[in-house]
Amino acid sequence: MVMNPMKQINHYIDSLFSNHDELLEAVLFSIRENGMRSMSVSPSSGKLLSMLIKISGAKNVLEIGALGGYSGICLARGFGSDGTLTSLELEEKYAELAYSNLLKAGFAKQVSYLTGPALQSLETLVSKNQKFDFFFIDADKENYGNYLNHCITLAEPSALIVIDNVLAGGSVADDAVAPKRYTEFMKEFNEMVANNPQLESVLIPIGDGMTVSRVKK
Ligand SMILES: C[S@@+](CC[C@H](N)C(=O)[O-])C[C@H]1O[C@@H](n2cnc3c(N)ncnc32)[C@H](O)[C@@H]1O
Repeated sequence: MVMNPMKQINHYIDSLFSNHDELLEAVLFSIRENGMRSMSVSPSSGKLLSMLIKISGAKNVLEIGALGGYSGICLARGFGSDGTLTSLELEEKYAELAYSNLLKAGFAKQVSYLTGPALQSLETLVSKNQKFDFFFIDADKENYGNYLNHCITLAEPSALIVIDNVLAGGSVADDAVAPKRYTEFMKEFNEMVANNPQLESVLIPIGDGMTVSRVKK
């Protein structure tokens, strides 16, 4: 069987640039053990998140979509002992698992979870005039436009916004790839991001595709 070229390239990147990581492997195991879907970012996507935070020096990170805490650990590893992660998650049970994994990783005191629909949590954060210097959007795709607008409102000048799954398995660019439920939506979303005058953006074809945007404030 012929492998999807995107999968093949990612397999190559992960096998060369991502070392075996017992802690992150244990997070993936805990997700399976709890009967949850495997939807964590790829090892190299996680490494990219850590590196972007290290390079930018971001200290106040907002994540939308926690699942079992895989990306949360990668984000926290970026700021180390000096920073905080606020993570928005619909499911109470997922947030609890993510917290227990962040605890094992040594970040319990630096992470807080807001459960329920992320849009509601974002409105609360806006009403409290909270600010963040790094955002990671990885939840229900249909709300990506709303999430992006809220993140821009919550952004410090020059904050980074990273958005996952923007290639929808390659289907946004290749008609030969079976479309996903959100392929057409993601095509429109990508166009909207590319043409947003408040953002300077690039799409990196790592994992399922990650857009990195700098807020021009
Ligand atoms: C792809 S998973 C996140 C994976 C995680 N970022 C990682 O890589 O470790 C998407 C998550 O978004 C959550 N989610 C879906 N709809 C949501 C909503 N409306 N508000 C908040 N979270 C939501 C799901 O429960 C799920 O945990």
